[in-house]
Amino acid sequence: MELLKEELNRVVDYVAPYLQLANSHTVDFIVNDTWQRVIPEEIRIHSDRIEVHDVLDAFYRNDSSITNLIQQFIEQATEHELKHSRYFKPIDELNFPKNGSKSSVKITEFMSAKKLHEVESMSQFVADVASLSNTSLIVDIGSGKGYLTSVLALQHRFKILGIDCSQTNITGATKTTMKLEKKWKVYQRRSQNLTKEKPPPTNQVAKEPCSSNEEYHNKYKWKSAIVGDLYKQRVQSISKTTNMDDILSEEYPREDHQNVLLVGLHTCGNLAPACLELLVENRNRIKSIVNIGCCYHLLEEKFVSNPDWLKRNSVCGNPTFPMSEYLTERRFALGRDARMCGTQKPINLKDSDEITNATKPLFYRALLQKLMIEKLSADDFPQGMTGRIAHKCNTFREYLTKAEKKLDVNLQVNDQDLDSFVEQNTLHWDRLKIFFILKSALSPVIESIILLDRLLYLFENNISNAFVVRLFDPDVSPRCHAIVALPPSQL
Ligand SMILES: C[S@@+](CC[C@H](N)C(=O)[O-])C[C@H]1O[C@@H](n2cnc3c(N)ncnc32)[C@H](O)[C@@H]1O
Repeated sequence: MELLKEELNRVVDYVAPYLQLANSHTVDFIVNDTWQRVIPEEIRIHSDRIEVHDVLDAFYRNDSSITNLIQQFIEQATEHELKHSRYFKPIDELNFPKNGSKSSVKITEFMSAKKLHEVESMSQFVADVASLSNTSLIVDIGSGKGYLTSVLALQHRFKILGIDCSQTNITGATKTTMKLEKKWKVYQRRSQNLTKEKPPPTNQVAKEPCSSNEEYHNKYKWKSAIVGDLYKQRVQSISKTTNMDDILSEEYPREDHQNVLLVGLHTCGNLAPACLELLVENRNRIKSIVNIGCCYHLLEEKFVSNPDWLKRNSVCGNPTFPMSEYLTERRFALGRDARMCGTQKPINLKDSDEITNATKPLFYRALLQKLMIEKLSADDFPQGMTGRIAHKCNTFREYLTKAEKKLDVNLQVNDQDLDSFVEQNTLHWDRLKIFFILKSALSPVIESIILLDRLLYLFENNISNAFVVRLFDPDVSPRCHAIVALPPSQL
């Protein structure tokens, strides 16, 4: 545990001076003079001296004739990513006995390519963990539309309970599972390249005449072999105080499940910490966990408040960051925009087109903010959002026309004035690109703090057979890190 504390300390100490940068919002980039306030002094002075554009250009081209402070910043940030932690286990080095795995079944409907990738990878991994831990029941928290649960039940034949707070999701999940089940044999055959062969004949029973449609329906309607038996769904909002004993005795009155594996795929915001707390509080039943969190911006922090508009979406009355006593004693806070930054999709920081495309909407929005502050009184300042309008606009004029409509304002700027306004502020785009690159480099470091803190919470509660593993390709599914805890004797 001391080693984990040391690691966390190292990452927290590294990030502390850059938290102001990570918490700066691009909307205010020009009006708050973010460049002067938060860009590390040596990068700012160096870029201002040489021309920001040339510094960026040299960075994209890997030109070492210009001192490459941006590159150095990225390299230092990378050293603090999860992949360098001793608690990060590359999946192929785990050497799990593969008796839980089955060759994957190619599902071609129902899910997006991203969801399919997640479900295929996670179900295989969960199957291995379940087999290694001798699990009798898998409970999926925040099971959503039931993709993971249905594949675990259909392909791996595990007993599984999906829990979600949304009735709509649970109803949808049951329907999706039945649709998948009906097509499962086809998918299995396709995966084994047996598509051309006819399916084996089923033992057709001659249907006896029925006196009513209802009788016929009840007698011959297709019935799921798993729903209600192998596969159950339950509507419930989960928190750390949820009583697992009550849930299990209601759902399985004749069974005594004492070896439960708790899983969660993209347990958003406070739900991921709640799952870890459930493990700690219910050790008599829950023996292992595989949990992937997401939406860190929805977390509630102990030492910094969320903005009021966010509170409405995420109040659980139980702040969930930091989780460890260690960071709690340090009174460590990340801040909402830093957590948002930790949720950012990875981007190729060396690709100038990618950076230009990614920053165009941010630059236009920052320009609009400046223009609105110049033209509108505080009373007339709009509260609404512009939404995703920038990508379809070729010029700031086009953007402004759409934004005025969305926000219901009229800034009354003629074309000539607008051209000169854009011209005067062009330098800010290159500066914003540097800001964006630095902030993006911090994104995995912030995720690393959140996940190492969760892991330390488990260690502090005597669950030390725990680690982090990357289950998905981050380009396909950026929230790809699972916290895994196994029973003490395993691995
Ligand atoms: C991001 S979705 C993930 C759904 C699913 N696991 C998947 O990957 O497709 C998160 C799910 O958690 C559910 N959820 C959020 N908070 C919850 C809570 N406190 N208790 C139970 N379910 C919750 C939501 O309704 C939603 O279906």
